[in-house]
Amino acid sequence: MKGFIEKIPKAELHLHIEGTFEPELMFEIAQRNKVRIPYKSIDKLKAAYDFNNLQEFLNIYYTGCNALLKEQDFYDMTMAYLKKAHQQNILHTEIMFDPQTHTRRRIPFKTVITGIQRARKDAKKDFGISTKLIMCFLRHLDEEAAFKTLEEAQPFYNQIDAVGLDSSEIGHPPSNFERVFKKARAEGYLLVAHAGEEGPAEYVWEALNLIKVDRIDHGNHSLEDNRLVQELVTKKMPLTVCPLSNLKLKVVKDISDHPLKKMMQKGLFVTVNSDDPAYFGGYVNENYLAIQQALELTREDIIQLAKNSFEASFLNNTDKKKCISQVEEFVNSYSD
Ligand code: ADE
Ligand code: ZN
Repeated sequence: MKGFIEKIPKAELHLHIEGTFEPELMFEIAQRNKVRIPYKSIDKLKAAYDFNNLQEFLNIYYTGCNALLKEQDFYDMTMAYLKKAHQQNILHTEIMFDPQTHTRRRIPFKTVITGIQRARKDAKKDFGISTKLIMCFLRHLDEEAAFKTLEEAQPFYNQIDAVGLDSSEIGHPPSNFERVFKKARAEGYLLVAHAGEEGPAEYVWEALNLIKVDRIDHGNHSLEDNRLVQELVTKKMPLTVCPLSNLKLKVVKDISDHPLKKMMQKGLFVTVNSDDPAYFGGYVNENYLAIQQALELTREDIIQLAKNSFEASFLNNTDKKKCISQVEEFVNSYSD
């Protein structure tokens, strides 16, 4: 099963580029930028990756971002992820970035997106990997800051496919951002939002009914509301589930308690993703492997998840079909 999981063609739909910033690269970039990291060594930093909840993780994640100053830094971080993604047989990945994490440190929006964009172009040329870009608003900041970010994105409209909502969930419901998402939708962006990771099912309802999202990121707590589950099934609403993230942030107590299999059995349209792989102990293949072993997923389940990843993506229908055919060809020719 390990070889099968590693080799099956797949897409990744929930990945924060700042969450791919590996400690080794962080120290290297911090050194060349003469930025002090509040940890004496790579090992000390890694030892701090022991979180009790989302906020404890976010505090370290935002601190790590302080090393990123120049276009080249964003290029290097993005390129390192895309290389890894290609090695894991990811054909297509939809990358989230948090511009406000950088603009509030006076790093220009242009510096951030230009570095990411150059890496996307080079990775397409060098590895054939296709990408989309999702700009996330930080929900612990206010609506006005989100409107300002949407404005700053305008000159780069052609490089951004969707707008999302991330950061500290509890106390920051999607309803706070209804108006700015309405504007984003009118401008032609696709929409996603983190909901039901730590927050209640009610936040998932708000993401559906007020934000009118095209996809829900996480969605774990949807299972507490049967009517919501039915609505998600009826709408064929994709949920981008992140098993190792849920384990590391204590959304689940143990990986064997993870609701992924239950979600599949209820007919929910789920995908498997890595979220912040540098912090949570694994990229997409490690997520598939951990959840397959813990929940005894079958080969058919893995095939379904791989197909779902393309079906739930923002690729056009022709490209979706091509990628799903590649999954089928792989399955038909695979022998262990
Ligand atoms: N930003 C990066 N990772 C996140 C997560 N898992 N939830 C909310 N915001 C995030
Ligand atoms: Zn996330």
